[in-house]
Amino acid sequence: MKNQPSQPAILWHLAHYVQLPEDNHWLSPREQEVLSGLRFEKRRNDWRLGRWTAKNALRGYFPENLSPADIEIIAAEDGAPEVFLGGQPAPCVISLSHSGGRGFCVVAGEGIALGCDVEMLEPRPEIFREDYFTPEEQRQVAALSAEEQTLGMNLVWSAKESALKALREGLRRDTRSVSVDFRYDPRPETWHPLLVTVQQEARRFYGWWRVENDVVLTVVTGTSPLPLISCTDIKRS
Ligand SMILES: CC(C)(COP(=O)(O)OP(=O)(O)OC[C@H]1O[C@@H](n2cnc3c(N)ncnc32)[C@H](O)[C@@H]1OP(=O)(O)O)[C@@H](O)C(=O)NCCC(=O)NCCS
Repeated sequence: MKNQPSQPAILWHLAHYVQLPEDNHWLSPREQEVLSGLRFEKRRNDWRLGRWTAKNALRGYFPENLSPADIEIIAAEDGAPEVFLGGQPAPCVISLSHSGGRGFCVVAGEGIALGCDVEMLEPRPEIFREDYFTPEEQRQVAALSAEEQTLGMNLVWSAKESALKALREGLRRDTRSVSVDFRYDPRPETWHPLLVTVQQEARRFYGWWRVENDVVLTVVTGTSPLPLISCTDIKRS
């Protein structure tokens, strides 16, 4: 038995590649087939890490004691991950991301627009924000001190990717068509709110950002803000 959240919530899980099993027995036959079609080692590693992270998040989300191979995560035509249990679509939505050996996944109830992203906290050149950020985002980042700008830049980029995933469009869409508003907060391991406005549409995403060691995590959702619950807080009794 697990202590499931009694109210609608978003479950999140961050995993490290060192936790990955060496074998592939935890993948379903259909997933093993997808893996065998991936030619590049980095892509295979990222894909496996994403699946492992998502399966562990989903084992926390569903009350049944599912084994990882019972849960399938198959990409839709647009690339967005979709969950299947026993070959049938599962009543949930997920988003996932991988960067720098970290896998990040969020899970929520079906029908919710949901996106997440993890980025390494590495410096990015100024030209990056000039090319990809809106004037207001550039102003927000430029207002930070030099050492805060690495976080500011990665956080804005990450929130954009989260929003583009929630829209299920990814980088097919101009990154300046979504605009991120955040307030700098130095406290790590704490969720801080953010807002993403989809330009030229009367649409907003509510979101959160959080620093965990050397990465920044972002989550956005199209519904009113839902509480975020860590998978590790869903305890088995
Ligand atoms: C979505 C996207 C922005 C992610 O960018 P990224 O920083 O490289 O990767 P992340 O690790 O943060 O996220 C990757 C995950 O996003 C998810 N994703 C991919 N396309 C998505 C979409 N249209 N909507 C929502 N989620 C998507 C997938 O789960 C993917 O991981 P997986 O392929 O291992 O399952 C990017 O892949 C993209 O723009 N895709 C659409 C364009 C496209 O398909 N290009 C093909 C290139 S050959």
